[in-house]
Amino acid sequence: MVETKTGEVHADTNPDYDRQSEVKAFDDTKAGVKGLVDSGVTKIPRIFVDQNLVLEKNSSCVNYQFSVPIIDLQGITEDSTMRAEVIEQVQIACEKWGFFQVVNHEIPGSVLDEMIDGIRRFHEQDTEVKKEFYTRDTTRRKVLYLSNVDLYKSKAANWRDTLGCLMAPDPPDPNELPEVCRDIVMDYSNRVVTFGFTLFELLSEALGLNPSYLKDMDCTEGLLLMGHYYPKCPEPELTMGTTNHRDSSIITILLQDQMGGLQVLHENQWVDVPCIPGALIVNVGDFLQLLSNDKFKSVNHRVLAKHVGPRISVACFLRMQANTGNASRLCGPIKELLSEENPPIYREILVQDYLSLYYSKGLDGTPSLSHFKL
Ligand code: OGA
Ligand code: NI
Repeated sequence: MVETKTGEVHADTNPDYDRQSEVKAFDDTKAGVKGLVDSGVTKIPRIFVDQNLVLEKNSSCVNYQFSVPIIDLQGITEDSTMRAEVIEQVQIACEKWGFFQVVNHEIPGSVLDEMIDGIRRFHEQDTEVKKEFYTRDTTRRKVLYLSNVDLYKSKAANWRDTLGCLMAPDPPDPNELPEVCRDIVMDYSNRVVTFGFTLFELLSEALGLNPSYLKDMDCTEGLLLMGHYYPKCPEPELTMGTTNHRDSSIITILLQDQMGGLQVLHENQWVDVPCIPGALIVNVGDFLQLLSNDKFKSVNHRVLAKHVGPRISVACFLRMQANTGNASRLCGPIKELLSEENPPIYREILVQDYLSLYYSKGLDGTPSLSHFKL
């Protein structure tokens, strides 16, 4: 178990301790943040202390006037007027917020509940069983359990563990998936891919393109599912559930339980994303911002740590796949969207180059896309 030496920590701006070895000791437990909580820690280990948070106390200024748009998809396949209205709502949401919640999508509430439960069962099962899945090696495994994807890169670790499953384009053999959530992960992933097609149609039209434009670009070929588990935290004012970041995906489809804590940065202020039973949250990722030449915005968001927990969420990243032919494929702003008045802001980039940059720096709130500006 990792030693908790919080005494000197709180005044520490430049860690003068051997952070890497404490990070490694934590990683080697393979028991994640949940393991710390189960062992009864009352102070968080210093590798989790986020100095920005301690210094800026920036979690205190939340704006309660704004609210993330909610879009109702009821009737859009039968009624063209409704469909046109929804497309306009999607366009406004993607331009102004980069985030929206969807109700009356195609996935039944019972499936959403079972998905959250499945992720809970995974994280709450016997640690010894879970450990078998603990790895950071995405080249050899499609299913991995780990604490903090960017553990060795970030300045402060997050109070969160994750089960990651690479579900498309080549789904894992079902036997590679943990038994406690195997069926629901397969079922939910298939439904998310279908829902993704619907969203890509709406997004294409919201960009003024033909409905199948994004789908025809093979945009939906990659699906990474991440089942996050945010245990209760004894000192939530010192750390984050998820550090401020933007997603590297094209779009992300996020399912959250009823605990709350997700916030999005809107007009320079943090806004809570309320829990709506049965809703799915959709957000624009960096790749859609690139393809749309900044028309649609990939927006910063974060998850607060809390005294109460656990909180469970399932993030499905629809993304260009780096490990397939697309790794060597150039992607840039969609030609049909460019004109003399709207010249390209970004150069054409390799999916692989973008992802390498994104993952090399850890979540830190800074935009990765700006490196690729013309
Ligand atoms: C993410 C993310 C939010 C959440 O996984 O990129 O922003 O609610 N997750 O877990
Ligand atoms: Ni995110």
